[in-house]
Amino acid sequence: MLDKHPIHTTISTEALRILERYEKELGAKNTVLERALLGMDKLRFKEKVDAHSISRLIKRVEMGIPGVDELIEGGMPEGFVIVVTGPPGTGKTTFSLQFLMEGLKKDERCIFFSFEEKVEQIIKQSIRFGWDIGEYIDKGYLEIFGFTMLSTEEIIEIFNVFKPKRIVFDSLNTFFDIHEFRRSSQWRSILKEIRDKKISCLAITEKRHGLEVKEFDEFDFMGDGVIFFDKSQRHDLDPYPTYYIQIQKMRITKINEMPHPFIFTDRGLELIGNRGLTKRLGEPSSSGQKLIKELPSVRDKDIAPS
Ligand SMILES: Nc1ncnc2c1ncn2[C@@H]1O[C@H](COP(=O)(O)OP(=O)(O)OP(=O)(O)O)[C@@H](O)[C@H]1O
Ligand SMILES: [Mg+2]
Repeated sequence: MLDKHPIHTTISTEALRILERYEKELGAKNTVLERALLGMDKLRFKEKVDAHSISRLIKRVEMGIPGVDELIEGGMPEGFVIVVTGPPGTGKTTFSLQFLMEGLKKDERCIFFSFEEKVEQIIKQSIRFGWDIGEYIDKGYLEIFGFTMLSTEEIIEIFNVFKPKRIVFDSLNTFFDIHEFRRSSQWRSILKEIRDKKISCLAITEKRHGLEVKEFDEFDFMGDGVIFFDKSQRHDLDPYPTYYIQIQKMRITKINEMPHPFIFTDRGLELIGNRGLTKRLGEPSSSGQKLIKELPSVRDKDIAPS
């Protein structure tokens, strides 16, 4: 029997296979061969990995919300799971539907899994922004599962049959127990499918606090990216809140972490251009809420009551 010995962990599987074959033939471990193969691997690795080629290898998916892609090097990396999070009524569902619309315009198949809303309500919400999603459903490019009670196996089966490029889960809190989901076999099998099939996924989650509180949950740690939604009112009687979006995390991406104000237009969400947002959230402040209120408001000029 061959002696078990530690093999260098950076050796490629291909090289490992060659090594194992020769060692079997020789009936003993062969450190000379191992070192040679390791050296060859390193040379190949050097050739392959440089900043330019890596950037070219990462396929960016345009999210379709004017202003957002510019904050994340042109788009989210394909096959990522992005957590879209924030308190209630801050635009998470609208943003996610707009992300699917962008895919549909490019003839990509898309699925919206809603665990709380009915299909009719989602369609109504889309029609308000002029998105004719009925047409895409008829053509077979869009599937909406409203008030869904699907099992993990059924979701995976849907992936296999429908072959989506973009999906949305609204929301993960209603589908998974927040404390157990990362380790759960259900989530791990869904995640494996998403990775294997390079599906770009938005996972909506719920927060009981706004941007002023730096508190992260299990979903945030799991996500390849985190986009936080919030709104603030200047005073209690202020009828029109200002909505904000902040990219809090995006793996393998240089991000603009400023909170950016956005508006609801008649075509969906749109980020307001650079309006001199000079203050960063997260700066020491006795009152985080005060800091949000110090950000320039765009409301008066840009947001018309709907
Ligand atoms: N056309 C519009 N103009 C202005 N505000 C709008 C418009 N459409 C929706 N809103 C506001 O956006 C909020 C709802 O958006 P959306 O459903 O996307 O939010 P959400 O974060 O998904 O909410 P929830 O947590 O309840 O699911 C509402 O509070 C509503 O006031
Ligand atoms: Mg919603």
